[in-house]
Amino acid sequence: TDHPRITVLPGDGIGPEVTEAAVEVLSAVGTFDFDERPIGACAVSETGAPLPEATLNSCLEADATLLGAVGTGVPPADPHAPRPEQAVLELRTSLSLYANLRPVRTFPALHSTSPLRPERIEGTDLTVVRELTGGLYFGQRERTSQQAFDTCVYTRQEIERISRVAFELASGKGSRARVTSVDKANVLDTSRLWREVVQDIADREYPEVELEHLLVDTAAMRLVTDPRQFDIVLTENMFGDILSDETAVIAGSLGSLPSASLPAPPNPLVGVRGGLFEPVHGSAPDISGTGSASPIGSILSAALMLRHGLGLSTVANVVEIAVRDVLDKGFRTPDLGGTTTTKEFTRALLSEL
Ligand code: NAD
Ligand code: IPM
Ligand code: MN
Repeated sequence: TDHPRITVLPGDGIGPEVTEAAVEVLSAVGTFDFDERPIGACAVSETGAPLPEATLNSCLEADATLLGAVGTGVPPADPHAPRPEQAVLELRTSLSLYANLRPVRTFPALHSTSPLRPERIEGTDLTVVRELTGGLYFGQRERTSQQAFDTCVYTRQEIERISRVAFELASGKGSRARVTSVDKANVLDTSRLWREVVQDIADREYPEVELEHLLVDTAAMRLVTDPRQFDIVLTENMFGDILSDETAVIAGSLGSLPSASLPAPPNPLVGVRGGLFEPVHGSAPDISGTGSASPIGSILSAALMLRHGLGLSTVANVVEIAVRDVLDKGFRTPDLGGTTTTKEFTRALLSEL
């Protein structure tokens, strides 16, 4: 068949619960060939490896991959045992997923459920562009009982290509075009190179885009005091991880945020083959098995897959609007202050479609 091929990696904890919802939504809006594979702690018990070769090969051959979450929340008793989180990191490098997009939008129905004042967050529409295959996550490391180190390395080429992703997104937004690059250039050499290279790309290739540099501590403060000043937030791997969870309070819950990880700049007209789409949240061991996880992050990740992975922007819009409508009707999982279950929310969404 020539239907798009989607590898599905439910993973651990609430991963399977929210991924099932997203797969149902995808099946309601199109025809896809799904290939489900194990990853994470469940793959370790099945095969001994967090990212089995057959799982990786399926992802390499797929048009796009949908991931739930991995991890048990507790480190394995044996410090040398494989860690489930390694699977996600290996997947990111093996698929060259250097560009992680984490869009944050407020839903009108949720303005009053955010811990932030409604008038401060209303209308927020920003995207964190996180560099995903460099920095502290992938530098040399060593650990003895007395000392440990992790190294942060960035090359000019790595900074250039993620900058272009941010500037491409900003130029696509027309007159609102604005990039905020976040670093720690007052302390770190990697950040000083980062700032220089981002400025260089802006001057040479995107003079029409407004660029601002912010230190990460200030950025963390401004994201919650005045999120609407942000449009595209461009940053390195670790800062992007931390800041993107912080933005969850704008959207109302960590369970609401989606992400797209791409091996090339987004092109909404054709899609980028070989991307990975997953909610920003983890396996949530504290609520797993209760059937109460929000499927919104996973469903919106499926929408990002439709838009950025498969070039089906119109269908992506339909899914995003349906999520908004279901929230407008009052359906809320417990993380948003309600009593709706994962399955009830999904059923309401499917009838909206
Ligand atoms: P987490 O994101 O799993 O949970 C943080 C909090 O948010 C918890 O209280 C949880 O109940 C809540 N939450 C998360 N998703 C939710 C949802 N969909 N609906 C309702 N509430 C939700 O972070 P954690 O507890 O720090 O980590 C748990 C495990 O997940 C760890 O092993 C961690 O390494 C892993 N993790 C995996 C990924 C991934 O696979 N991409 C991402 C983050 C964390
Ligand atoms: C995320 C997660 C991962 C990260 C972990 C599970 C390795 O927190 O996708 O945000 O730190 O990148
Ligand atoms: Mn994270």
